Amino acid sequence: MTIPEETLTELRAVRAAFDLMLAPSESERLIDAAIRLLPTPEAAADLELPARSLAPIGAEVEATHGVRGRGRYAAALVAELCLRRAPLLERSTLPTSVLDLYPATFARVAAYLGSADLSTYWIGDDPFLKDLRIAAGYTVPGGALDIDLVGRISKKSGLKTMVTSRTFRTGVKVMRMGGSGWFSIHLDQRYLEEFNAHGRDRCYLRIAELLLRDPTVKGMVGTSWYYDPALPAISPRLAYLQQRPLDAGAFLVRHGRGAIHTERATLTSETRRKLYEEGKYLPVCFSLVWPRDALIAWAERAAERATVASAASYGRFGPTCRGGNRSYDLAQVRQPCEMPYPHG
Ligand SMILES: CC(C)(COP(=O)(O)OP(=O)(O)OC[C@H]1O[C@@H](n2cnc3c(N)ncnc32)[C@H](O)[C@@H]1OP(=O)(O)O)[C@@H](O)C(=O)NCCC(=O)NCCS
Repeated sequence: MTIPEETLTELRAVRAAFDLMLAPSESERLIDAAIRLLPTPEAAADLELPARSLAPIGAEVEATHGVRGRGRYAAALVAELCLRRAPLLERSTLPTSVLDLYPATFARVAAYLGSADLSTYWIGDDPFLKDLRIAAGYTVPGGALDIDLVGRISKKSGLKTMVTSRTFRTGVKVMRMGGSGWFSIHLDQRYLEEFNAHGRDRCYLRIAELLLRDPTVKGMVGTSWYYDPALPAISPRLAYLQQRPLDAGAFLVRHGRGAIHTERATLTSETRRKLYEEGKYLPVCFSLVWPRDALIAWAERAAERATVASAASYGRFGPTCRGGNRSYDLAQVRQPCEMPYPHG
């Protein structure tokens, strides 16, 4: 898998724009300092930690160059990380179905860095958080969703669910299976082309491939208001988000209400907003937990029955893999998932 020269040129231009603001050696010092501040993958289960770790160096840049300069610095850092990752991807053993997404992913990162107002592109900004994680390799593209390779499930949420929702079996499961070693899925609000049932299925197939490569990963977890079991009755079009996994061995863990969940749940839907205002719908956040064996079994069934749109072109779980009629070598697929990481 090769990143097209056009994208690399755009990324180099973003990087060079920061060089123009100050002496190249100073620019290099600041970029290297940021890369050294990035946490190890093991420490990066806290989604926002990589961005937060950059606070001291960001403050230094802001003091001299203002928030606009800091935005250009953040963009240069993301561009630099993408440029360092590009050659690593050429020899990566990530599944083809994931690797195939990188050219489009890096192209849209480059386009965003070249066109967006970057004054808020820093800690607390969702696009920066998402781009930094992809560029630094904590997260890989999954199509409909970004797939974090270093996610975790809080064991405490198992205890909480036992006390507050009296769902003892779920609580015990979470306490037993929780901790690190989960893939966590995240929606990037800028890119919703695959936000539909087929797009999700394609993403789950990629996750199944990633799971096969690393036997230590326990499964997949996602957290949102749209996993609330009350939602399908209100927004039946979104039922697939929980129904597909729940039909295939996933389970839900209740977290509770919160202003952020209400804001998100009522942002785009007139129906949900009205019901909320009438007191008939209170958004609640849930985690959807899909243990590895159940997810892999679903993917294998999907491939067998070809019930999933385009399954045939999606790697291990189709009769052929993309780019040829060669089947995956299972021995190779089961190798541990490498963590492409800036420190090597
Ligand atoms: C998550 C999200 C992207 C889903 O968007 P979506 O697929 O368009 O689904 P929504 O239920 O939100 O749809 C909103 C409106 O679009 C229209 N719509 C959506 N899909 C449609 C379809 N297939 N045909 C016709 N209209 C449709 C409907 O009018 C719907 O309003 P309604 O509920 O009053 O009928 C969207 O809700 C969102 O951006 N939320 C805010 C951010 C967020 O929550 N992110 C996830 C964080 S965990």
